[in-house]
Amino acid sequence: MRIAVFAGDGIGPEVTREAVRVLEALELPELELTEGDVGAAAYRKHGHPLPQETLDIARNAGAILFGAVGDFECDNLERHLRPEQAILGLRKELTLFANLRPAKVFAGLEDLTSLKPEVARTIDLLIVRELNGDVYFGEKGMRTLPDGRREGYDLMSYAEDEVRRIAHVGFRAAMGRRKKLCSVDKANVLETSQLWRDVMLEVAKEYPEVELSHMYVDNAAMQLVKGPGQFDVVVTGNMFGDILSDLASMCVGSIGLLASASLGEGTFGLYEPIHGSAPDIAGQGLANPMATILSAAMLLRHSFAREADARRIEAAVAKALADGIKGGDLGGSAGTREIGDAVLERL
Ligand code: IPM
Ligand code: MG
Repeated sequence: MRIAVFAGDGIGPEVTREAVRVLEALELPELELTEGDVGAAAYRKHGHPLPQETLDIARNAGAILFGAVGDFECDNLERHLRPEQAILGLRKELTLFANLRPAKVFAGLEDLTSLKPEVARTIDLLIVRELNGDVYFGEKGMRTLPDGRREGYDLMSYAEDEVRRIAHVGFRAAMGRRKKLCSVDKANVLETSQLWRDVMLEVAKEYPEVELSHMYVDNAAMQLVKGPGQFDVVVTGNMFGDILSDLASMCVGSIGLLASASLGEGTFGLYEPIHGSAPDIAGQGLANPMATILSAAMLLRHSFAREADARRIEAAVAKALADGIKGGDLGGSAGTREIGDAVLERL
């Protein structure tokens, strides 16, 4: 079991450390962990946020456990040298086009979410976010118009095969759950979304058991707060998925609890908490490592077919939360190491 560990910036190293301790505690067969530099940390050491050496480690591994990237000190660098390019580059280079972001309320946390407890209790959804296309990867730049005004531009586009492959991921995920798929777009305004919707309808013919619906992204944001229980699987583009998954995290209680898997066609995947590097609390042992620990569970499930181990981790996290182990993100006082210890004890 070769796992590349890319801890990155800010709170990345401290939360990743706890997830690694959990993996090691499971006594997995032939576990081999290789660390690599990403983000601002890599830029400072190698002059690039995603050095070749790191890409090589990734390509030799069966999965990547990823912390976070981002550092205010790098905000003025040219875009291709900024820390975020590490995660965007890995997703693109390794064709990890399908991002799974599950959101479910843990028992005992209903009162801590940003929603009313009775509404929060109904959340059990999966966001399937496309990761390799959209406005993120279109032609972009800054130019000066003939009259001297500056203009920034980013081209939004999706080719039909890009939509088709993420559609299949969405439909297959729905088949394994409550068989409801909601495709989120902005087809009332965007041609990109019209194609998205057309392709969703074509692919739907191959999954007659799945009930497909469509929703405009603005309405989806509203419905996620108003009645999140109506959603089973949500499939959407890169940009809308980025925004809606942060929104969903607050419905669950904390962004410190949401894990994610980024997958391609095979079993290889990259696993990361959906939160960022949180530079304001970095290095203080305050960050909640649960999202990263839960990402390690997803890693075992999707890349190494170790469902039982994945469930063990998830149960240990749920038990720790039910026992009142809460980080500052949930209004508690448990630190990073303390939360890691609590999860380890319950394993
Ligand atoms: C995420 C993050 C990234 C994204 C950033 C760090 C580039 O917000 O994984 O959701 O926008 O995809
Ligand atoms: Mg995001």
